[in-house]
Amino acid sequence: MRLPSLAILLLLRVSATCAVYTLSEVQMQVEAYHEQTSTIAPRTLPSRCWLLCGFLSFTLPKQLSYPNSTTYEFEESQYWSQQQALTRPACRLSPNSADEISLAVLASRVTKCKFSVKSGGHAAFAGASNTEGGLTIDLVNLNEIKLSADKKQTSIGPGNVWYDVYSKLEPEGVTVIGGRVSAIGVGGLTLGGGISFFSSRHGWACDNINNYEVVFADGTIRDVNYSSYPDLYWALRGGGNNFGIVTRFDLATYPQGDLWAGSQTYIYNEETAAKLNSAVYYLGINAPSDPYAQVILAYAYAAIQGVWIIASDLQYGKPEPKPAILQNFTSVTGAIADTLRIASLTNLTQEFNATNPGGYRKTYWTFTVENDVPLMTEIIAIFMDEVERIKDAPGIIPSCIFQLITTDMTSHFSKNGGNALGLAGQGPLILMNIDIGWSNETDDKRVMAGARSIVSRSIAAAKAKGLHNQFLYQNYAALQQDVFPSYGSANYAKLKAVSRKYDPTGVWQKLQPGYFKL
Ligand SMILES: Cc1cc2nc3c(=O)[nH]c(=O)nc-3n(C[C@H](O)[C@H](O)[C@H](O)COP(=O)(O)OP(=O)(O)OC[C@H]3O[C@@H](n4cnc5c(N)ncnc54)[C@H](O)[C@@H]3O)c2cc1C
Ligand SMILES: *[C@@H]1O[C@H](CO)[C@@H](O)[C@H](O)[C@H]1NC(C)=O
Ligand SMILES: *[C@@H]1O[C@H](CO)[C@@H](O)[C@H](O)[C@H]1NC(C)=O
Ligand SMILES: *[C@@H]1O[C@H](CO)[C@@H](O)[C@H](O)[C@H]1NC(C)=O
Ligand SMILES: *[C@@H]1O[C@H](CO)[C@@H](O)[C@H](O)[C@H]1NC(C)=O
Ligand SMILES: *[C@@H]1O[C@H](CO)[C@@H](O)[C@H](O)[C@H]1NC(C)=O
Ligand SMILES: *[C@@H]1O[C@H](CO)[C@@H](O)[C@H](O)[C@H]1NC(C)=O
Repeated sequence: MRLPSLAILLLLRVSATCAVYTLSEVQMQVEAYHEQTSTIAPRTLPSRCWLLCGFLSFTLPKQLSYPNSTTYEFEESQYWSQQQALTRPACRLSPNSADEISLAVLASRVTKCKFSVKSGGHAAFAGASNTEGGLTIDLVNLNEIKLSADKKQTSIGPGNVWYDVYSKLEPEGVTVIGGRVSAIGVGGLTLGGGISFFSSRHGWACDNINNYEVVFADGTIRDVNYSSYPDLYWALRGGGNNFGIVTRFDLATYPQGDLWAGSQTYIYNEETAAKLNSAVYYLGINAPSDPYAQVILAYAYAAIQGVWIIASDLQYGKPEPKPAILQNFTSVTGAIADTLRIASLTNLTQEFNATNPGGYRKTYWTFTVENDVPLMTEIIAIFMDEVERIKDAPGIIPSCIFQLITTDMTSHFSKNGGNALGLAGQGPLILMNIDIGWSNETDDKRVMAGARSIVSRSIAAAKAKGLHNQFLYQNYAALQQDVFPSYGSANYAKLKAVSRKYDPTGVWQKLQPGYFKL
């Protein structure tokens, strides 16, 4: 048996830490590694992923983890849904730099072992940010948060969740446009759009990125912004994981203090529902008079108590109780719980994190309709009818969530060349999120069928009234929903053209098959 040439292998290990490679250089390295290791174990014909994991564990030994190791199992526990947490990659890489990600992507191209990329791990369905049998690149160590001296920009690594960002910026009296639940990741939320409490004033998260640092399919690492790559910059604003791995987001940063916000919970009855639905409708119309206000209205079944409830989540971006713009909500009586208060952003996002626990089987679905009270009433009736058939599933938590896409929000969608979502200047619209959690895999089929049916029946009802909008929000969509065509045919064609230009062999689609593909 020939021993591996230590000299060659050592050279690989040292050089991997200090340079960005070309595909052919990585090809030579992987081949050298393969040759050396296959002489040690000649009878095991290595699979693609065996080779990739082995190569990475040799070149980046501290960053690579295998099943049953402490690191691997801890990272597996950091997904929100059970479907993702139960997915088992052959190995996990937690790179420390964009260079290391570049090496991993090129090595994946050479070995043809598939990969996925995880930021906060809040996407619900299996394979979104974890890869059965493949490589998962966990961005957790890219956890930089750097506020510029003039406090106008924050550079954020995608290993952060929003709690990390807000709690760091709060003492400085500033914030960024990001998620409303503390444990969501910076990466997935921002690349899909990103609705924040401040979106009527500033647009969605993707409208507030000055610059993206991106690992390209050819392994190069470049700054992508409106001046340097306007087409790719546009595509990253809603294009999800189809255009590269973002290793740093430079976010516009704004002065922000405490909010007045919280949740009012009601036992469902038709009269309360009618008042709250009407309040949403009028907020949609009146929002431009006070863009500090935002609302999330959720209908849900509380299985333990066996009752239908309504949660009216109100947010006002100033520390002023009961603003006039929200009076149609606050005048509704009979709340059984009320957390409205003056709170910091961090505190508020922790409250919402506590009401969205992980560990369940989960499905998210979406659709979009015009702002209309009778249609809202019809959608709620459809939701209740479908949930009746599945509400005996252990651990079930079904919600039907209404949010306004205000004209204020969409007025920011054209900032810096615009985003890819296809909604600039539209609205007010109602963005729907059907969110169901449950405990038992044996109930997957009927719960999924129920969710799908809520969506298809609601869309049919909206179409019958001429009130359907084709937009599908990637961050709330189920894998069965075709997100990118919903941005409009011109935007869809442009996304595909940008992808062909920067990634002619389709690395981000073929080698990274999870999540929404062009
Ligand atoms: C409890 C809860 C609350 C939510 N609240 C909001 C909200 O307030 N506003 C809102 O808009 N949405 C919200 N969402 C939806 C959320 O935006 C999506 O679930 C989003 O995908 C989560 O991002 P993540 O980084 O945590 O997920 P991940 O599962 O880590 O990533 C999602 C996808 O993005 C890709 N990705 C992540 N980072 C990168 C990167 N740096 N480069 C390339 N690809 C990357 C991943 O590969 C994956 O395919 C919420 C979801 C949940 C479950
Ligand atoms: C991990 O541990 C489990 C249970 O201890 C065992 O069944 C499994 O074979 C181990 N897997 C690997 C890859 O070592
Ligand atoms: C835009 O990208 C170029 C290089 O691609 C970089 O030099 C420049 O600093 C970037 N601009 C911003 C605002 O980050
Ligand atoms: C409150 O509702 C009434 C109708 O009931 C409407 O006329 C009014 O404009 C609404 N106010 C706000 C601030 O939305
Ligand atoms: C928010 O702050 C209040 C008062 O300071 C505190 O009692 C509460 O526990 C905090 N909530 C969360 C979720 O941090
Ligand atoms: C979010 O809630 C989970 C419990 O479901 C908890 O483990 C986690 O620490 C919370 N994260 C943040 C950032 O608040
Ligand atoms: C899951 O369903 C199976 C089959 O119906 C049942 O045997 C099991 O007890 C259930 N588990 C839980 C946690 O409810």
